[in-house]
Amino acid sequence: MQKGNLTLTMIKPGAVKKNHIGPILGIINENGFTIKAMKLTHLTLEQAKCFYAIHKGKPFFEDLVTFMSSGPIVAAVLEKDNAVQSFRDLIGATDPSEANEGTIRRLFAESLSHNAIHGSDSDENAKIEASFFFNQMEIF
Ligand code: GTP
Ligand code: MG
Repeated sequence: MQKGNLTLTMIKPGAVKKNHIGPILGIINENGFTIKAMKLTHLTLEQAKCFYAIHKGKPFFEDLVTFMSSGPIVAAVLEKDNAVQSFRDLIGATDPSEANEGTIRRLFAESLSHNAIHGSDSDENAKIEASFFFNQMEIF
């Protein structure tokens, strides 16, 4: 099956608070991703619950959505061949203690629950997540 060329990322509240937006975007560009849309925004608790609805009922859900609505985030649509997998390789494992050297989570994450950055997990979810933040006119 043809792999899509778009993914959706969020630089999470912890990394924004620590002024890591610039270095993280630098790494993203250096690794061949083009920014197609981007905004600094602040999710409400309800919006965070909606974005992460797939995890509803899991033991970490309340902590996750509380954290994700605790401060500003940067949401962006990124373009590269095989974007979803390529970006997940760049951000590293969900638990930063298991993330490879040089990955964004290894470099910037504080913990499993405060892990610096999100990446879509499938082409289908990348489309859904991109339209959560941006309308067609805002994706270049
Ligand atoms: P996202 O890019 O944020 O979607 O992370 P992911 O795709 O690597 O992981 P997943 O979608 O499975 O989980 C979403 C988020 O919930 C993760 O980024 C973690 O912060 C958090 N999370 C996942 N599993 C656990 C867990 O077992 N314990 C805790 N405390 N948090 C978890
Ligand atoms: Mg996920």
